[in-house]
Amino acid sequence: IKSIAVLTSGGDAPGMNAALRAVVRTANHFNIDCYGIREGYNGLIAGDVTKMGPRSVKNIINQGGTILKSARSKEFMTYEGRKKAFEQCQKLGIDALVCIGGDGSFTGAKVFNEEFGIKVIGVPGTIDNDIFGTDNTIGYDTALNTAMDAIDKIRDTATSHNRVFFVEVMGRDAGFIALNSGIATGALDILIPERKDSMDDLFSTFRMAEKVGKSSSIVVVAEGEVLGSIYDLAKATKEEFPNYDIRVTILGHIQRGGSPSCADRVLASNLGYGAVIGLMEGKNKVMVGMQSNKITYTPIEEAIKKHNEIDKNLLQIAEILAM
Ligand code: F6P
Repeated sequence: IKSIAVLTSGGDAPGMNAALRAVVRTANHFNIDCYGIREGYNGLIAGDVTKMGPRSVKNIINQGGTILKSARSKEFMTYEGRKKAFEQCQKLGIDALVCIGGDGSFTGAKVFNEEFGIKVIGVPGTIDNDIFGTDNTIGYDTALNTAMDAIDKIRDTATSHNRVFFVEVMGRDAGFIALNSGIATGALDILIPERKDSMDDLFSTFRMAEKVGKSSSIVVVAEGEVLGSIYDLAKATKEEFPNYDIRVTILGHIQRGGSPSCADRVLASNLGYGAVIGLMEGKNKVMVGMQSNKITYTPIEEAIKKHNEIDKNLLQIAEILAM
């Protein structure tokens, strides 16, 4: 491997910059040329590429977002788009692509490799933690802590006013942020897509909460939850319990921002380093991950197709501890 290019793609996640820094500096350490691509695959198609050296990634380990910028490229989903991207790789002499992103970005990388033979390696960067082949994805820990801080603040006002709050957290189709932030904030109930909840289950939880003397409560709802929109849930609850004073909060994109946590910076450093090492060892079409504190490589199609399981035990713990 003589020359690699790195991009960030899909939803940004805190720690992507730390991963970029690790890729650039590891490449430099082993005398591999490194190019940074702006705005995900769009930049590869347009040739929006700059050579990066160790000083181009100074002072970014603590920054949220991604200095390369990110995109969900429509053009790269087409063969013509990918062909243009390949021509840019040829022009620059790029042997391999490091793609920091989520499953959509990995799908693009996989197809690109199959069509044009450019080596690819994925680095899991998404707050959703929905990627198989790594215990955690870059950005998840920071997003969890952001959600936890926000819900703690909601608890203060919920308690002061004896209110019921429905709080929506991100995660796309996965309930990891909801389950873990819900446990960490002592939520009365946690609604996630992986468990098929019913309105009746939710109502009986409220009834139990009344019985044990709770005067306020927080229900954490994953955005991918399947019972209905958070507003529907709040409305149905109000109809069932007309005396409840209910509020809805959607945390939204604040969960994507902010300085990465220590855990995310260390994870990103490991994975960025591991990506370059993997390429040097001849690995291709894999995703680098951390499993039980070890750098591992998983075929990219497995990382895309398989899913991390929600910890059923944690769900039960949440229920027991809520009352
Ligand atoms: O994948 C990260 C994520 O923040 C999801 O949790 C959420 O569903 C989605 O991206 C939001 O996407 P956008 O930033 O395009 O609104």
